[in-house]
Amino acid sequence: MASIQPARNEHLDAVAALEAVTFPEDAISKRSFRRFIESPSADFQVLLLNEKVIGYTVVLYRNNTNLARLYALVVEKEHRSKGYGRRLLQAAEDLADERHSLFLRTEVATSNTVGQQLMNSEGFRAIELREAYFPPSASQSTDALVLQKLLPRYEMGEDAGVGATEEYVPMLTQSTEFTCGPASLLMAMDYFGRPSSDPQAEELEIWRQATTIYMTSGHGGCGPHGLARAAFQRGLKVRVEVNTDQPLFVDSVRQEQKKTVMQRIQQADMTYLEKHGVPIVVRDYDVTLIKEDLSQGCLVMVLISTYQFDGIRAPHWVLICAADDDFIYINDPDYDTLPWESPTERQYLPVPISTFSKAFGYGGRKQKAAVVLSADLTTK
Ligand SMILES: CC(C)(COP(=O)(O)OP(=O)(O)OC[C@H]1O[C@@H](n2cnc3c(N)ncnc32)[C@H](O)[C@@H]1OP(=O)(O)O)[C@@H](O)C(=O)NCCC(=O)NCCS
Repeated sequence: MASIQPARNEHLDAVAALEAVTFPEDAISKRSFRRFIESPSADFQVLLLNEKVIGYTVVLYRNNTNLARLYALVVEKEHRSKGYGRRLLQAAEDLADERHSLFLRTEVATSNTVGQQLMNSEGFRAIELREAYFPPSASQSTDALVLQKLLPRYEMGEDAGVGATEEYVPMLTQSTEFTCGPASLLMAMDYFGRPSSDPQAEELEIWRQATTIYMTSGHGGCGPHGLARAAFQRGLKVRVEVNTDQPLFVDSVRQEQKKTVMQRIQQADMTYLEKHGVPIVVRDYDVTLIKEDLSQGCLVMVLISTYQFDGIRAPHWVLICAADDDFIYINDPDYDTLPWESPTERQYLPVPISTFSKAFGYGGRKQKAAVVLSADLTTK
């Protein structure tokens, strides 16, 4: 029976020998392997068959990042194509997952079609081509593909944290750069049994109703009061959470006239909400409060700054669907947020709580805005 276990010093000779025949020009040294055994930032495992090493993996972790790197994955030639490579890869993924890595990344020679097939079938995706990455070799190309996999996926069940629901919140990708808010609201409407019959048209319609803030330049985005008003009009139960009763998001607007317009629109929305009994709560709405709302069956739209993710300070609405001890799971309506390329990867996208806390709040004054949504059982 083959078993996978943490490497020990007694395995080093066999691992180094297997590495040398596999990558004659570019072998990892025995000294390095020894360090991987001792290092707290490496997981080094061996695959043993009748106590003999027939394969190994090394995963490396870098401090303060959620990125894990699959540094080595090898199965001895005579034992290949029997499923051992996949078992080793899955075991390496489990370890990276346990350490709360978000991504597992590796480099594979472009000529290594077996390796690529294995990776692709396990959900890895090519994110970059690196030319002349490996040294010249008779056995493989010098060019490498960087492959990456998003690790923790939200799974419903006993350990699912709060917001765990009978069904997943459906995903919708925004169709313009300024309709993240409307797209987030449409996802919630769908989830709460009020799907739009024409989401594309309604996305713009909601935007027309809710736009107040001038994003960087170009079209304005939506403010929390306008979105809350649009949500209320579409039959949802709504609460607005803001951390100031001052007009929101006017700091970066230089033109006085624009500022005044924004303030007047916000005021009109607030008056409407007050008139219809929609609460506007002014306090520091934090992760604990978000979790409370999720546990009550709500979904929460929050305005985040994308700086933590792509280095650009842009306001962006996302929909929080669930949370557990380590992650906030968001449906991100964005259409081009790398490295979360496909809509499936932007559904229940796990954001570490520390990252989320930094991203939640916009502008120099860290103005927080959230719209808490649930089904309005009185009108259904
Ligand atoms: C890559 C490697 C680890 C795969 O190990 P393995 O034990 O042969 O892999 P598995 O038997 O688990 O097969 C996994 C998948 O790889 C592909 N594969 C395996 N053998 C293959 C072959 N002879 N021809 C084509 N594809 C093959 C298949 O997609 C297979 O999935 P399937 O069985 O569901 O069709 C092994 O070939 C190896 O050690 N190569 C040299 C080191 C290396 O290239 N490392 C980098 C890996 S990215």
